[in-house]
Amino acid sequence: MSPAATRRYRVRFFELGEHETFVFATSEEDAISKAAAMHYLGRTGAVYVQLFQEHQMGSRPCPGGALMSSQTNNALNTVVHGDCVQVMRKLQTASVNFILTDPPYLCRYKSRSGQTIANDDRDEWLEPAFSEVYRVLKRDSLCVSFYGWNAADKFIAAWRAAGFRLVGHVVFPKSYASSVRFVKGMHEQAYLLAKGDPHFPSAPISDVLDWEYTGNRLHPTQKPISVLQPLIEAFCPLDGIVLDPFCGSGSTLVAARRAGRTSVGIELDPKHAETASLRLNAPEFHGSNSS
Ligand SMILES: C[S@@+](CC[C@H](N)C(=O)[O-])C[C@H]1O[C@@H](n2cnc3c(N)ncnc32)[C@H](O)[C@@H]1O
Repeated sequence: MSPAATRRYRVRFFELGEHETFVFATSEEDAISKAAAMHYLGRTGAVYVQLFQEHQMGSRPCPGGALMSSQTNNALNTVVHGDCVQVMRKLQTASVNFILTDPPYLCRYKSRSGQTIANDDRDEWLEPAFSEVYRVLKRDSLCVSFYGWNAADKFIAAWRAAGFRLVGHVVFPKSYASSVRFVKGMHEQAYLLAKGDPHFPSAPISDVLDWEYTGNRLHPTQKPISVLQPLIEAFCPLDGIVLDPFCGSGSTLVAARRAGRTSVGIELDPKHAETASLRLNAPEFHGSNSS
């Protein structure tokens, strides 16, 4: 191997939380296998790889070296395609700082053009998913979950069964009606859930946040970045990791990167997982790990 072809990589196995190593290697694949041989033998799953450029005065992150996944099933700042219950079971306990998610509302959603949402017609996933959400969240941390008002009892039961305390409720008034039945449906809603005893934010946000219409061009129930970003800024530390286990088109992940946080998304539908991945790798994020 020629010395010129060898560069320094930082490698971290997600299951091991903050534990990371530096290796000299010729490619990301080479870096992972060397790190595995040296430190992580026998482990499989999440891996985070970042290219470090060598300089005479030491090393620093290479400006062009985007954080990337070299194993397609797991990594930071990426989208994992799969069932979030199965995927989260592979993640380390207490490994993420904030969870912002928008699960199926259990309302048998059908758009005007006939699009549906996976798992919106069954609730077997609800308790296992929030049990994993609770486990992978760090102690004294928060989760914000949107929910369908007509299945509020099921969502609240699943959150409480997992161990969460309900510590806030956020309402998002809309300037238009999503549905018209007995009343015009003109708001969205989410609960703020606590694991342990998180600190109050230094600058608390209002529990009424204006909604912006996305046009649902990327996903039938696409959430606006403008309402997700303030939630991340309020409830996730600057150096924290945001997880969205029902990430759809990746709106939470884009909001997290704009807020300078690292993110992981999980999505069952391959088409939406691809959309999320494309959004997360958009030119606006090139050359930067976090913004
Ligand atoms: C309400 S949508 C999320 C939309 C998203 N907030 C956005 O802005 O695009 C819920 C998503 O959860 C996905 N989903 C349903 N069951 C899932 C599961 N078990 N694991 C992972 N994703 C799942 C659906 O395919 C859907 O895209």
